[in-house]
Amino acid sequence: MTRSLHRSLHSLVLASLLALPLSLTAQDSNTIHFDAATKVFRIDAAGTTYAFGVNNVDELQPLFWGRSIAATDSLPAAHTLPEVASFDGPGTVTQGEYKGWGGQLYLEPALKVTFPDGNRDLVLHYVSHHIEGDTLTIVTKDIERDLFVELRYTVDPATGILGRSAIITNKATAPVMIEQAAAATWNLPRGTNYTLNYLTGRWAGEDQLQQQLIRPGETVLQSTRGSTGHQNNPWFAIERGPSTDEDTGDVWFGALAWSGSWRITVEQDQLQQVRVTGGFNPFDFSYKLAPSQSLETPVFYGGYSDHGLGGASRLLHRFELTKILPQSPNPRPVLYNSWEATTFHVDEAGQEALAEKAASIGIERFVMDDGWFGQRKDDHAGLGDWYVNPQKFPHGLKPLIDKVHSLGMDFGLWVEPEMVNPDSDLYRKHPDWVLNFTGRPRTQERNQLVLNLARPDVRDYVFHFLDDLLAHNDIAFLKWDYNRNWTEPGWPAVAPDEQKKVYVAYTRNLYSILHDLRAKYPKLEIESCSGGGGRVDLGIMHYTDEVWPSDNTDPFDRLSIQDGFTYAYTPGVMMAWVTDSPGWANNRTTSVTYRFLSSMQGSLGVGANLNKWTPEDFATAKDLIAAYKGIRETVQHGSLYRLVSPRNGSETSVTESVSLDKKQAALFTFLHSSTMNYPYPRVFLRGLNPNTSYRVTSISGKLATDTPTTATGSYWMSHGLDVELKGDFQAAAFRFDAQ
Ligand code: GLA
Repeated sequence: MTRSLHRSLHSLVLASLLALPLSLTAQDSNTIHFDAATKVFRIDAAGTTYAFGVNNVDELQPLFWGRSIAATDSLPAAHTLPEVASFDGPGTVTQGEYKGWGGQLYLEPALKVTFPDGNRDLVLHYVSHHIEGDTLTIVTKDIERDLFVELRYTVDPATGILGRSAIITNKATAPVMIEQAAAATWNLPRGTNYTLNYLTGRWAGEDQLQQQLIRPGETVLQSTRGSTGHQNNPWFAIERGPSTDEDTGDVWFGALAWSGSWRITVEQDQLQQVRVTGGFNPFDFSYKLAPSQSLETPVFYGGYSDHGLGGASRLLHRFELTKILPQSPNPRPVLYNSWEATTFHVDEAGQEALAEKAASIGIERFVMDDGWFGQRKDDHAGLGDWYVNPQKFPHGLKPLIDKVHSLGMDFGLWVEPEMVNPDSDLYRKHPDWVLNFTGRPRTQERNQLVLNLARPDVRDYVFHFLDDLLAHNDIAFLKWDYNRNWTEPGWPAVAPDEQKKVYVAYTRNLYSILHDLRAKYPKLEIESCSGGGGRVDLGIMHYTDEVWPSDNTDPFDRLSIQDGFTYAYTPGVMMAWVTDSPGWANNRTTSVTYRFLSSMQGSLGVGANLNKWTPEDFATAKDLIAAYKGIRETVQHGSLYRLVSPRNGSETSVTESVSLDKKQAALFTFLHSSTMNYPYPRVFLRGLNPNTSYRVTSISGKLATDTPTTATGSYWMSHGLDVELKGDFQAAAFRFDAQ
């Protein structure tokens, strides 16, 4: 980390404090109230009210979640709904904050258990509560057995985002088997006109936004793969009414902080009540709780915005930057990565040559990717053997790291700590260290197997090799990769009825390794990568500084991947490389400028083979990297407005980022393919100060000749501006600075 980056960090933190209304910065200890007369809990923060009560049968029943209601408006006490039919009694139609499966419940429970005597009935009643600062803790207990569930609600006063989780404790004398455990159930006001937004994808095609009307029944978003997965991301947003305008309307949203198998169900019940339940995936899951043991669920965060999906994502971005990331958000350095240039063929001379070229265009961090360790020539061997390959680096990594430092950059390294190739010394020595079922095949993916991180010896091995690597080399950054999903997820070393704990124990040990490394190496930064965006969630983001959204670096595909990504995650963690053209994904040819402008909407990196660049490419790159440094705080930590989405085959897409103090905005405009000589649609900015004058400067591309150089925020927002773009895969970008 350079001094100038530290300085920028301080100014960023200051700017963000100045930009928030005072009422939001002060720790408001009055955000959580309990009315003893009505037994109603109310959490009020940042324009949002969340309320629930202890009802007539001592269960926790939701009352309201949405735009804040006046403190003087008292909420009526919670009361169970009457029987609707002999098929739908109060126990199933009355919504719950956190319901056990028992009694009359036919809907998704938050918790399901089996007691050793075969009893599977669980009904949780309120016992007590405790309010401390921004956290409310409620103790509930089964009506008969000594199974306790502590429910936690922590509110972020600045965004109104609530973090909810549960701790299940067995205070009986016999073990209990947990078969399903959610972090929380979120209940929306009754209604039928809700639109569910969620993210789907696959390798090289992550984060595609899906929108559908919520209908009776259940929609399941999940991963059964052992990790977060590319297929669904643990995020949802529900709009009231159809999705019309990005920045208006009521939106309820949530994100689960868990990097193991997870599940979120969105359910509309018989009374058209909508609820969202999320936590550990119950598929192939059980967790045996011995007497006096506890199981803590992940945290399920939820929030509300009356400014549409745009407002919802801006709240989430702010929350991630201030509450989820492990440290105050440093501006991400402009990074170079060797993967697409050299693949596995790394060596000292080749990497040093690339480093020289990278430094010449203003790169601040040089990252050597796969291929530097063990007997790694391709993806058939070497994973698990984390010694520096002596043929490729006869003097270790030091000469390369010294060279990188002498060029004014810091050094980063690729690792894939949780994996092993069968062709490795580690696997030959410890074949029992991988996930496996005794006597069954061990399915390989990319010629590798998954180390069972739940095992204490594997956890120690992984921590120690990383500790050793970091202790002996000046490494500022790790790209932590994870290139396959689980198969045959057995853990033969423990008793059969303990084996399914692997889904929890593995993920917790992953977090603990990351935590311990960060504690020991406080300056270390880490990127979460899983063959692209296969492990992006609020759980891993608590221990990492950035994520790799996709292996697909095609600049046009990236527009929609990045669009989807930013519904849930801040552009401040969204690493985006400029790679070569034509690219491997689509064999598409695009200009260096188009590729840069696509990547400059996130955390900029370069992953091209610089050995093939022309002097013109270097000159363009140098200019655009310098321009990026002038807007990166705004792009990474400002407020994002997705003015025109690239979704649904749109010919254009536009993003705008506004700094928190509203003194700067950055505008990126893209044209897929112009037709019939039509001009580019007029662009209307958002989020500026209407009365402030802003001067517009081109980063790349032209505005219509009659565009004023300086005009008020209200001019840019109301009158708008015309960008001159024609052709295929064209882009232009502009910055606006307050005068
Ligand atoms: C994964 C990553 C890539 C690269 C390769 C290296 O696919 O997503 O960026 O690091 O592994 O093997």
